[in-house]
Amino acid sequence: MPWYHIALSTPLEVGQKTAKEIEGKDVLICRLNEDYYAVANRCTHAAWRLSEESIAGMEIVCSLHGARFDLRDGCPTSGPATKPLATYPVELRNGELYVSL
Ligand code: FES
Repeated sequence: MPWYHIALSTPLEVGQKTAKEIEGKDVLICRLNEDYYAVANRCTHAAWRLSEESIAGMEIVCSLHGARFDLRDGCPTSGPATKPLATYPVELRNGELYVSL
């Protein structure tokens, strides 16, 4: 799987996220503590974009109907969503972020 450099104007702070279009995929990259996670940017319930939604602990909360997803593995922790978000590997190399699709 190829790696893609994520160009950021400013580094992500803890709890921040950014959405990027990579090879036609809408990807949400989040920083939680010292770790970075990348998931599909669309709720699996009704395809609501998650990039403006809140992060609570290790979860992102879809405000449209209330589903929550663990950002570490994409799995729903609260309905109505039942399918996980796609997840993508993230690496930090010399201070630069890379995502593999
Ligand atoms: S679109 Fe996210 S919970 Fe319905």
